[in-house]
Amino acid sequence: MSVRRDTAMKLADYQPPAYQISELYLEFELDDHRTRVTAISQVQRQTSQDAPLYLNGEALELGGVWVAGQPYQPEMAEGGIILQDLPASFELKIETIIDPANNSSLEGLYKSAGAFCTQCEAEGFRKITYFPDRPDVMTRYRVRIVADKQAYPYLLSNGNLLDQGDLDGGRHWALWEDPFAKPSYLFALVAGDFDLLSDSFTTRSGRDVTLQLYVDKGNAYRGQHALDSLKKAMAWDEQKYGLEYDLDVYMIVAVDFFNMGAMENKGLNLFNSKYVLADPASATDDDYFNIESVIAHEYFHNWTGNRVTCRDWFQLSLKEGLTVFRDQQFSADMGSPAIVRLKQVRVMREHQFAEDAGPMSHPIRPEEVMEMNNFYSVTVYDKGAEVIRMLHTLLGEAGFRQGMDLYFKRHDGQAVTCDDFVQAMQDANDVDLSAFRRWYSQSGTPQLTVGTTFEPQTGRFSLSLTQLTAATADQHEKHPLHMPVAVEILDGANNSVQKHTLSVTQEKQQFDFGPFDNEPVTAILAGFSAPVRVKQIQSDAQKQQIILHAQDPFLRWDAAQSLISQYLHEMAGSGQTSVPDVLIELFDSMLRRVDQDPALFAEMLELPSFETLAQQNSPIRVDGLLDARDCLKRKLARTLTDQWQATADRISTGAYQYTQQQAAQRRLRGVCLAYLALSNAPGVESHLHQLYLQSDNMTDTLAVLKACQGSELALFDRLMEDFEAKWRHDSLVMDKWFALHAGKERNDCLSKLQILMAHAMYSINNPNRVRSVVGTFAFYNPRGFHAIDGSGYKFLTDYLLQTDPINPQVASRLITPMLAFGQLDESRQDLIRHQFLRLLDSPQLSRDLYEKVRKSLR
Ligand code: PHE
Ligand code: ZN
Repeated sequence: MSVRRDTAMKLADYQPPAYQISELYLEFELDDHRTRVTAISQVQRQTSQDAPLYLNGEALELGGVWVAGQPYQPEMAEGGIILQDLPASFELKIETIIDPANNSSLEGLYKSAGAFCTQCEAEGFRKITYFPDRPDVMTRYRVRIVADKQAYPYLLSNGNLLDQGDLDGGRHWALWEDPFAKPSYLFALVAGDFDLLSDSFTTRSGRDVTLQLYVDKGNAYRGQHALDSLKKAMAWDEQKYGLEYDLDVYMIVAVDFFNMGAMENKGLNLFNSKYVLADPASATDDDYFNIESVIAHEYFHNWTGNRVTCRDWFQLSLKEGLTVFRDQQFSADMGSPAIVRLKQVRVMREHQFAEDAGPMSHPIRPEEVMEMNNFYSVTVYDKGAEVIRMLHTLLGEAGFRQGMDLYFKRHDGQAVTCDDFVQAMQDANDVDLSAFRRWYSQSGTPQLTVGTTFEPQTGRFSLSLTQLTAATADQHEKHPLHMPVAVEILDGANNSVQKHTLSVTQEKQQFDFGPFDNEPVTAILAGFSAPVRVKQIQSDAQKQQIILHAQDPFLRWDAAQSLISQYLHEMAGSGQTSVPDVLIELFDSMLRRVDQDPALFAEMLELPSFETLAQQNSPIRVDGLLDARDCLKRKLARTLTDQWQATADRISTGAYQYTQQQAAQRRLRGVCLAYLALSNAPGVESHLHQLYLQSDNMTDTLAVLKACQGSELALFDRLMEDFEAKWRHDSLVMDKWFALHAGKERNDCLSKLQILMAHAMYSINNPNRVRSVVGTFAFYNPRGFHAIDGSGYKFLTDYLLQTDPINPQVASRLITPMLAFGQLDESRQDLIRHQFLRLLDSPQLSRDLYEKVRKSLR
C-alpha cells in the first residue's frame, strides 16, 4: 500500500494561503499530445515571514520556471513543486507541456470527440499548470489560445473576447479576459468546431447579454429547449432573489465526454450533452425536465458558487446544497411543486439514506477527505439542499430572502464557509441558529418516533416526538438536531385539517392540541419537512384516511407508499404469496380517483422501488422483497386489468408538447401500460405494439419499451431490434437502449452485458455509455446484481479493475451499490468482501476507489 493513497486532508488543518495570485496570464498552444502552457502569475506574499510557495501539479512536464525574470530551480515535491526565498511580490512564469489526447480521466485539459475542453473542479487545474489549486486563491485571468483554424474555428474561455487574429501555418488565436477574480476550479477553455445557437437576454437593469449555445455539428435543432430554459432561469433569479447576470456573454458548450452533469465555469458552462440536447423524437419528458433543471442549476451558481465561492472543499455544500435548493425551487415554480418534491424525496430515500447507512457516511460538511471527487455526493448535494430547505421553512420565505441578501452583501467576491452562510441567515433574522448548525457536522439519518395520546374526557390530543440518530461509520456520538416538523391533524368527524409546523430541538418533545370530539389522525412530515425517517404505528384505516383527506400531496403519496411497503415487508418475511385485499381495494379506489390529479395518482400507483424498500429494514431481504414486489404487481395487473386498460385508453394528449398536463398524462399511461403488460389480457401484446408504432415521441415509445421490459412478452426483443435499427447512430438515444437491456431481468444477464459492451456504440472511455450499461445493471437490476452466486459482484469488480486506470471518477461512482453490503445477508456480505479484497490487491488502485474500499473493510 502506498503511503500517498492513505493521506487524508482534515478540515481542522485549514491554513490560509501564504501567497495570493492577483493576476494570471495563460497561453495555450493547443496540440493533441504536446500542448504548451505558459502561465505568468503576479504573486503576493500574505504572511510576514519567509514562507515557501507550494504549487500543485500533476501529470505535467515542466518546461521551466522563472522568478522575476530569472531562471529558477524549484524543489520537486509530492503532488507539486516548492519555491523558497521569494520576494514579497513578484512575477512568476512557468512553462508546462501536457498531453490532452491521452487524458482519459476527463479532468484538466482533454479531448472530447474532436474538441479540446477542460474540467477543473475540484482539483483539475493542477493537471494544466503548477498553481495554488485551491478555491481561496482568487485571480483575474487573461487567456490566449492558439490552435489550428480549420479544426478549431471556435476558441473560447471565460469572460469577454478582447481580440483575435490569424497566424501563419493555418493557425489562429483568441484573447479572453475575465474581469471577475475567480478560483482556478472555475477556469475553462474550449476549442473546436460546433453549431452555434445565439439568443439574447436583457437584464432588468437593462443590460443586454448575448447567449450562445455550442453543440455538435448537426445538432442545432435540439438546442432550443436548453436556451429557453436558460432565459427562464435568468428571469427567475432576478424576480426571486434580485440577482442579475454580470457579464456580456453567457456561453454553454455541450460535450459528449463528461464525468458529471455540467459545470458552472464563469461565463462558459460545460455540459454533458445529455443535459442540453432535446427534441420530441429523441428526448423524454424526464429529459426535458432534467435539462431545464441542470441549465438553471449551473446558471444559479453564478451567484451561489462563483460570486461567492468556497473557502476550501470541505465547504462544498455551501455552493452545492444551496444551488440544488435553488434549482428545486425553480423547477417547482416552472411546473408541479408536488411532483418535484416527490422526485427529491425518492433521491433522499433511495440514495442518500443508503450513503449515510454505509461506510462512506459523512456530514454535509465533511471533516476528512482522501479524494475530494468522492465527496460530490448525494449527502453534500441533496441532504445539503434539505438542510437549506429547513432553514427556509424555519425562517419563512421573507426571512430566508433577507438572509440571502445579507449573505451577498457581506461576501460578494469572497471565498467563505458554511458557517458564514448560517451566520448571515442568523443575523438577518435575529434568531439563534446555534443548535441548527449541528446539521453541518453530524452525519446519519435521524429517526423520528411518533407517539400519540388522546384523552376523551378533555378532548386533548398530544403528540410526542422522539429523535434518535444511530451511530454511523464515521461518527459515534450523536446529538439532537433542530428541525421543522410539519404536521397535519385530520379530524375524522368533519374531515377538517389543522396544519402546524413544529420547531423540534430536543431529544423528546410533546405537543398538545385540541380539544377534539374524537381521536384525530396525525400525518407527520408534510412536504418531507426534514430529512429523517419516521417511525409511527398506524392502522390501515388511519393511513387510508391520510391518503384520502390530507392536504399535502407528499403526505397522501407517503401514506399510500407506507401501506404498500408494510405489506411487502410482511410478504417478504413470511414468503406468503397471497396479496391482502386492502391493497387491491387501495389501488381500485385510487384508479377511480385518478382524474382528480393525474400527476399525483400516477406516482401513487407506482409501487415503492426495491431501492426504497431496501432502506426500510435491515438486513435487506433481497429475494423476498423482489418476489413480493413481483407478486403484488402481477396480482394488481390481473385483478384490475379493466381499470388499467380503461385509464390508459381515456388518455389522449395530441401532438407532443412538453407541458405539465401532457407530461402527467403520459406518465399515467406509462404506469398503466406497465401493469397491463403483466396482465395476461388477450391482445395485450398487439395493443402495445400498436402504441409503439403510433408513437411520435420518445416518452411514449419508451413507456411501451419499459412496460415490455418488465414483463415476459416476446415483443420486447422485437421492438428493441427495431429501435436499434432506427437510432444506432445516435449515442444519447442509444444510452436508453443500453439501459433497457442492462436493467432487464433475465437468466443470461451477464452474457447480455458482454454483448452490449461489444456493441459498436459502446466505449469504456465514455462515462455516459458506462453508466447506461454497467451503472444500470449495478444500481437498477437487483436480481442480476445480487445473484446469490456472487456473479454480479464479480462482474462489477472485473469492470472496476478495467475502468479505474482509465477514469477513476467513473469507477468510484460505480462501486456505490456494493457499499451497501453491511445491510445485506451474511452470504452476500462475504461475497462482496471478497471482491473488495481483490480490489485492494490491485497495486494501481486509484485513490478514489481505495478510499471507499478501505473504509468498507474497516
Ligand atoms: N459543480 C458541478 C455542479 O454541480 C458539478 C461538477 C463537479 C462537475 C465536479 C464536474 C466536476 O454543478
Ligand atoms: Zn452544482
